[in-house]
Amino acid sequence: MTAIELLLQRQSTPMLTEPAPNDADLSTLLAAGMRAPDHGGLKPWHFHVISGQGLQQLSDLYLEAISVELAHSDLEDQAIIDKKAKTAKMPFRAPMLIVISTNYAEHSKVPKQEQLVAAGCCAHAMQMAAFSLGYGAMWRTGDLAYNNIVKAGLSIEGNNDIVGFLYVGTPTKEAGVKPAKDYQEHVTYWQ
Ligand SMILES: Cc1cc2nc3c(=O)[nH]c(=O)nc-3n(C[C@H](O)[C@H](O)[C@H](O)COP(=O)(O)O)c2cc1C
Repeated sequence: MTAIELLLQRQSTPMLTEPAPNDADLSTLLAAGMRAPDHGGLKPWHFHVISGQGLQQLSDLYLEAISVELAHSDLEDQAIIDKKAKTAKMPFRAPMLIVISTNYAEHSKVPKQEQLVAAGCCAHAMQMAAFSLGYGAMWRTGDLAYNNIVKAGLSIEGNNDIVGFLYVGTPTKEAGVKPAKDYQEHVTYWQ
């Protein structure tokens, strides 16, 4: 696959299974993440790689977070049970998750917004690296990405952000290439 093919064919894979990237491939993914454009060379990001027993730890953390939230909800008992069960299963949608978070630095020329974008580029780069190595990946967030209990459980300081949960694994089925999106309506030319 050429670089252009990768850029033009990248797509998400929601259904993922074993195997997760092996150590060498994981190292390539992380190195691709580190290659993100980075104003000031601040490396304003952090990656948590979660697999194996770590998935259960993340599930426990999610359950803790959702339980606090649900304690104040007026949902029926059964709806609460269902919501907890669904939440607990989330980390197991793939054999590996990479949590990409910010690690904001104070810098007079690099506002927080640029650092957030740079961390987002890490997620994109890692997804593309996974794709080019034959794995599938899907970038997800959802309420739990913005939950303070989840952030604290991952030792992500209050002012930092979870940019995404990159689910990584092997596609469960061969997927056709999605049609390209037309760019014309999104482009203005000055010439
Ligand atoms: C910051 C961010 C958060 C996202 N969160 C979710 C999510 O929680 N759930 C979801 O189904 N898709 C989410 N997506 C979108 C998917 O990753 C994916 O891009 C989308 O389903 C389109 O599929 P494609 O990547 O194959 O074009 C998110 C994308 C970004 C950039």
